[in-house]
Amino acid sequence: MDYLEIHGGATLAGEVKISGAKNATLPLIAATLLTDETVHLRGVPHRLVDVQTMTRLLVGLGCEATQRSGGRFDLTTPEIEQSTASYDLVRTMRASVLVLGPLLARHGEAHVSLPGGCAIGARPVDQHLRAMERLGAKIQLEGGYVIAQAPKGGLKGGTIVFDMVTVGGTENALMAAVLAKGTSIIENAAREPEIVELADLLIAMGAQIEGAGTSVIRVQGVSSLHGCTHTVRPDRIEAGTMLCAAAATGGDVHLDRCPTRALDSLIAKLREAGCKIKIDGEGDYPSVRIKGPNRPNAVDVTTAAHPGFPTDMQAQFMAVMAVAKGRSVIQETIFENRFMHAPELQRLGADIVVHGNQAVVRGTSKLSGAPVTASDLRASASLVIAALVAEGETTLRRIYHLDRGYELLERKLQRLGAKIHRRHG
Ligand code: UD1
Repeated sequence: MDYLEIHGGATLAGEVKISGAKNATLPLIAATLLTDETVHLRGVPHRLVDVQTMTRLLVGLGCEATQRSGGRFDLTTPEIEQSTASYDLVRTMRASVLVLGPLLARHGEAHVSLPGGCAIGARPVDQHLRAMERLGAKIQLEGGYVIAQAPKGGLKGGTIVFDMVTVGGTENALMAAVLAKGTSIIENAAREPEIVELADLLIAMGAQIEGAGTSVIRVQGVSSLHGCTHTVRPDRIEAGTMLCAAAATGGDVHLDRCPTRALDSLIAKLREAGCKIKIDGEGDYPSVRIKGPNRPNAVDVTTAAHPGFPTDMQAQFMAVMAVAKGRSVIQETIFENRFMHAPELQRLGADIVVHGNQAVVRGTSKLSGAPVTASDLRASASLVIAALVAEGETTLRRIYHLDRGYELLERKLQRLGAKIHRRHG
């Protein structure tokens, strides 16, 4: 199995290009099931294991997928041939549940395996299921599968009020509502940039959607959707990870096409920590230059739904705080078990005490390399950042987590001067 060998101590410097966003791409691929015409996706982060898994899932349902160089995907589903998302795929990637809405909307039925627990918490799909029921679907649970059936004549518009902000739930609701008869209102909707991107794709396919990016989304159902071309926007979490890597190593890094608006809360915290961040250019994806301080200041963060501090940046920010001057408190409010990186960071010499959903980090001036193991995607990134700072050699195992969501991370870091190598064994 592959692992990473990292020799810490390099100050990152140079330019890095951010890949297309994983968390946007997965629902975009699922949304292509809503039409029999071809959807051309561009800038797809095609090397990511999750993107390949989602594509395989769609092919199993009847999609013809052509992948060309440079992340160009052409996806056509003339007919839904199969309506089952099997346990084998769903258990490897929870986002597989995103085919539920499109399958119900286009095909009238869906059998989707329940995702079950995962490393960062229970992550149930009750809100997805209730949303489908609000659009008229009958839901049964049988043998670990969700069996969902639309009423005769298809889904009907309805009002969906989410109990909590759920990104995947909002995406499924949106994809189901676009082909439902009549008007649907989604209240307490997630406002993440991925929702806006999905709505933009659906609108380009002919859907009528208002309010994406706010907490109330209004959808006027249409009878069919058509093909279109969409370019995936840059990955805010990858960009944020690079910013944290620069911050922790006192680096000087230039990010090409950085989704700064989607990163407002992180950028504010990094500035508080003493980073100099210069945003050059107008528009949504300007270039950004970050200069990390000699040693960051300690800053408290609490994760929250967008536009709050992203839970997907909590682990990487903790790695920065591990070498900060002073004590910071990091609170995780989205997932109940998302501090699995803390004990591994401790192996590198970090001083972190976890009480429930709160971690108290006392910054230390020195981390030391050690063998560590990744528990989930963002935890892996956090360990990479800490290893870049640590003296000596760190080996990071179970990097299949990293490969699910970061494209060519070690090559990008190498170009910035990091001593990081993928090994096999
Ligand atoms: C997405 C992101 C993930 C990110 C998360 C929160 C993708 C592919 N993944 O995950 O990287 O960390 O948003 O920003 O985009 N919940 C329920 N019932 C439900 C649905 C959710 O209780 O039916 C809970 C979850 O357990 C969690 C919270 O709601 O505590 C938020 O989860 P959600 O926003 O749905 O996360 P995902 O869409 O799975």
